[in-house]
Amino acid sequence: MSLRPLISEEKLQSRIVEIGAQITADYPDGTLYLICILKGACFFLADLARAVKRDAFIDFMAISSYGKERTSSGEVKIVKDLDISLEGADVLIVEDIIDSGITLSYLTALLKTRNPKSVRVAALLDKPDRRLRHVDVAYVGFHIPDEFVVGYGLDFAEKYRNLRDVCILDPDD
Ligand code: IMP
Ligand code: MG
Repeated sequence: MSLRPLISEEKLQSRIVEIGAQITADYPDGTLYLICILKGACFFLADLARAVKRDAFIDFMAISSYGKERTSSGEVKIVKDLDISLEGADVLIVEDIIDSGITLSYLTALLKTRNPKSVRVAALLDKPDRRLRHVDVAYVGFHIPDEFVVGYGLDFAEKYRNLRDVCILDPDD
């Protein structure tokens, strides 16, 4: 396996500051509820939350996709649910990467049933070529090609999350 840098720490940080400014402008009133999807989005959440210059609540959700095989059945299981109520809240789901879109289309629909005022998605990375389900993504850090990436929270079998850059993982060499 080899790692090829794709997005440097500097590029990640400056893009996250831009997205934070955009979010700050888009939500002038009230408290924003930032919902981090564990584990991959934890670093993105930490940096994005500090780039948003508004009152923000933070909570975490963990999802299981039934092992490593991600079928197009749309089956997603909540492993850890939120502690807070979303009633009347402006909700921003913070996710590491959108691939098929199955996770986020499920989650967006689920959180909308909890009577929030609004639900939007912020994803650090987007692989649009792989989409099976439509997802409205309000904020995207980077569109990337159809490659498997790790680092800055993203893993391969739990490894590489603590790399500072986003790297392409090449399995062949
Ligand atoms: P989706 O439901 O297919 O959109 O799956 C998105 C989830 O798959 C992400 O939250 C990641 O956990 C995982 N994933 C998709 N692509 C990658 C990748 O390139 N590297 C690491 N994890 C990925
Ligand atoms: Mg994830």
